[in-house]
Amino acid sequence: MALLVKKILSSSNLLQNVPLKNRITKGCLCLLSTSIVRDAKFCGSAAEAVKDISPGSKLLVGGFGLCGIPENLISALVESKVNDLTVVSNNAGVDNFGLGLLLAQRQIKRMISSYVGENAEFERQYLSGELEVELTPQGTLAERCRAGGAGIPAFFTPTGYGTLIHEGGSPIKYGAKGAVDIQSAPREHRVFNGRNYIMEEAITGDFSLIKAWKADKAGNLIFRKTSRNFNLPMCKAANTTIVEVEEIVDIGEIPEDSVHVPALYVDRIILGEKYEKRIERLTLRKEKKGSAAASNPAVAMRERIVRRAALEFKDGMYANLGIGMPMLASNYIPDGMNVKLQSENGVLGLGPFPAPGEQDADLINAGKETVTVIPGASYFSSDESFAMIRGGHVDLTILGAMEVSQYGDLANWMIPGKMVKGMGGAMDLVACPGTKVVVTMEHSAKNGSHKIVENCSLPLTGKNCVDMIITEKCVFNVDKEEGLILAEIADGVSIEDVVSSTGCLFKVADNLNPMGQIDIPE
Ligand SMILES: *[C@@H]1O[C@H](CO)[C@@H](O)[C@H](O)[C@H]1NC(C)=O
Ligand SMILES: *[C@@H]1O[C@H](CO)[C@@H](O)[C@H](O)[C@H]1NC(C)=O
Ligand SMILES: *[C@@H]1O[C@H](CO)[C@@H](O)[C@H](O)[C@H]1NC(C)=O
Repeated sequence: MALLVKKILSSSNLLQNVPLKNRITKGCLCLLSTSIVRDAKFCGSAAEAVKDISPGSKLLVGGFGLCGIPENLISALVESKVNDLTVVSNNAGVDNFGLGLLLAQRQIKRMISSYVGENAEFERQYLSGELEVELTPQGTLAERCRAGGAGIPAFFTPTGYGTLIHEGGSPIKYGAKGAVDIQSAPREHRVFNGRNYIMEEAITGDFSLIKAWKADKAGNLIFRKTSRNFNLPMCKAANTTIVEVEEIVDIGEIPEDSVHVPALYVDRIILGEKYEKRIERLTLRKEKKGSAAASNPAVAMRERIVRRAALEFKDGMYANLGIGMPMLASNYIPDGMNVKLQSENGVLGLGPFPAPGEQDADLINAGKETVTVIPGASYFSSDESFAMIRGGHVDLTILGAMEVSQYGDLANWMIPGKMVKGMGGAMDLVACPGTKVVVTMEHSAKNGSHKIVENCSLPLTGKNCVDMIITEKCVFNVDKEEGLILAEIADGVSIEDVVSSTGCLFKVADNLNPMGQIDIPE
């Protein structure tokens, strides 16, 4: 209520209520006006806006991949060379753009991120112990920022229960010869209504660096397409919020009903000098071909898996598809069937890849590929996206795996000491029992070792979470008590084949069926 009352006061009154010290540290001195408080927010340059970011600061940096990153503010930090930074950001840029530029200059001491697979220098610094990394599930990261901005110090989430996130011991800093110098702390566990949850603490920062599309002269913000992502929750979670925009418009040009972030969360605004808006994975629509299966056995194997996975789509469903084979399943959604695809970076209603020339750097999927949307689609922030996911509003998720256990444990995010990409949104996607979790993967690893095992040897993504496994050989239903039940078997595959290529016992369904395949669309 107090905030509302404050907003009703005239702007000059508001300024008089703020102690001088805060006026100077929060706003930009360059344009500080004693009569019009809103001018205090506008800075002349990115360098001016970041000049009090000092070594050791904690920064919340918006963006998903390279979509919606504060390019101009990052450039100003590259210039200022400020170091020893802790940076909270979903991703770490690429080697020569975005936060990758700060990593290259060794300005970052610690990253708090969910997925860092696109950046080779990042991986090198982490594995060699030069960089500290707190890998955090994407939805947990978004909610920790949201909570930080909303005055909630901690919350309970099902995400990560039974994994390294819950148990602790995830490497934050490597030492000599692969030893782990700093490990993540275990999380408190509690049961609510018979379900398991872990406690996660809010994140706040000294500064947020935000990229919005437009600001009006009162300081209200609006974002464009999927560039809202982490920018929105991060706006609210730092002592000083610094925003760069593509355009500053007159009051009234952003209708009150369309404001995404009210001005009170915004301390400084700059007009970005130039925008490169680099596209990480330009992906364009291809001419539709029929079956490519004849050409190559690996392609044929994938197609068999994908065409079975597509049978899981039902009319009216909301689904989230992982990158790779899961996403390919969407090519087989029958005409006339209404399946809305959710992408965790903040879009519901994904369409096909764009035709050449139609691509838009502000519109990507969670795999950082350019996409389009269908009529009736919507955009939202990352915290909202994971409310949909964690809250059980998404009916189906299809994702890949490195290992699946007999009782449906899933491992797909980490090979200790070797592959460190991060879990992205996978831990959140499998955390809700209301969402059917389907794994699509090759039955065995390339070197012949089992991927379907009694117990996973790799760190888990989720415990007892998989409902169905689809491989090129067969389909297993996963019963959380009875274990695997062989439900369908592919043409030319014998039960003995399945036994020898599966690392655990399974039951065979009474009505074992041939493996289903959705028709190839015309
Ligand atoms: C923000 O400001 C408060 C009060 O001045 C201070 O105690 C705190 O350390 C600052 N930083 C963060 C990250 O909250
Ligand atoms: C195959 O690769 C996996 C994962 O890299 C490894 O754990 C396993 O020992 C390998 N198996 C064989 C038979 O080489
Ligand atoms: C798998 O885990 C269960 C439960 O902890 C244990 O009883 C069993 O021996 C394990 N199996 C293998 C092959 O390690």
